[in-house]
Amino acid sequence: MKILVTGGTGYIGSHTVVELLKAGYEVIAIDNFDNSYPTVLDSLKKITGVDIPFAEVDIRDKKALKAFIKATPGIDAVIHFAANKAVGESVANPLKYYENNVGGTVNLLEALQENNINQIVFSSSCTVYGEANPPVDENAPIPVANSPYGNTKQICEEVLRDQTQASNLQVVALRYFNPVGAHESALIGELPIGIPNNLVPFITQTAIGKREFLTVFGDDYPTPDGTCIRDYIHVVDIAIAHVAAIKFLEDKKQASAFSVFNLGTGKGNSVLEAIQSFEKVSGKKLNYKIGPRRAGDVVQVYASCEKAWNELGWKTERDLETCMKSAWDWELALAK
Ligand SMILES: NC(=O)c1ccc[n+]([C@@H]2O[C@H](COP(=O)([O-])OP(=O)(O)OC[C@H]3O[C@@H](n4cnc5c(N)ncnc54)[C@H](O)[C@@H]3O)[C@@H](O)[C@H]2O)c1
Repeated sequence: MKILVTGGTGYIGSHTVVELLKAGYEVIAIDNFDNSYPTVLDSLKKITGVDIPFAEVDIRDKKALKAFIKATPGIDAVIHFAANKAVGESVANPLKYYENNVGGTVNLLEALQENNINQIVFSSSCTVYGEANPPVDENAPIPVANSPYGNTKQICEEVLRDQTQASNLQVVALRYFNPVGAHESALIGELPIGIPNNLVPFITQTAIGKREFLTVFGDDYPTPDGTCIRDYIHVVDIAIAHVAAIKFLEDKKQASAFSVFNLGTGKGNSVLEAIQSFEKVSGKKLNYKIGPRRAGDVVQVYASCEKAWNELGWKTERDLETCMKSAWDWELALAK
């Protein structure tokens, strides 16, 4: 099968390209380098030995996107990563998020419909659950989103679900919990532009001296050590789940045209546990301070993953220390 990967040079997209090739799929990637670099393609070649077919396409540009898909015969399925993902930025600039994440997805769906491409795997997020009681399963209610970014994920899921009713489209929406870590080669990983929004890049950047200290936002939450709890999942495990999702569509295992799965480990770790794990694997003492709570942070969230275990036949294999070690190796490689 030939798989089109949008956002293919991004963090999760690049790791997924590696796993797709490993599993024997043909891949073609597009990206507009809004949040990634062309050098990722060189790294992918080093890892896989393959010159990844690639085109610089902006999914907001409907005409260019349609022309590209029309001119690329044989696409069987799409994995759709391309989006903006910074919650804070989405609050400051919601239209950017609605245009890119929602508008871009609509453009893509139009292009797929016109070319009779009927299978898509979509990057959703646990953010759709807001403040839910963990472990959170896929039937948990979807409350009003607490950011425009979260809202774009909810809306895209609805757009995709509606499109399955009106066409032959088959959708797998994957709700990621907290993707962290990097490829074991340390050739690809998360490359946040500017100040990282997420904990793990902030930890590694502080440890290497790019940031003076890390602020832990609140230690007075109703959790065992008072800090927030998240479900940290290794990016390679996430990437492998996409291969499982493609296989699931290929084998026609879906009970309905719109399927949704949580991707997590099923285990929550606190911010302090994540820091301790990093200190253990890196041998570095992290300079961190306890600060006030940050507005909008959910107290604790971790996944119930039974649906993905049972229906996708997928399970995480990498633990928190592996996540931290690979993230640190990646930061060290970047420093070189
Ligand atoms: N990383 C996370 O914590 C996380 C969690 C849940 C969901 N997600 C979702 O997973 C997907 C991938 O996230 P990521 O962490 O790899 O982010 P990323 O920013 O590293 O990757 C996204 C890629 O899409 C590209 N892109 C953005 N807009 C585009 C456009 N208009 N046209 C073409 N390319 C475009 C970017 O340049 C980037 O390379 C996103 O949809 C994100 O919302 C990420």
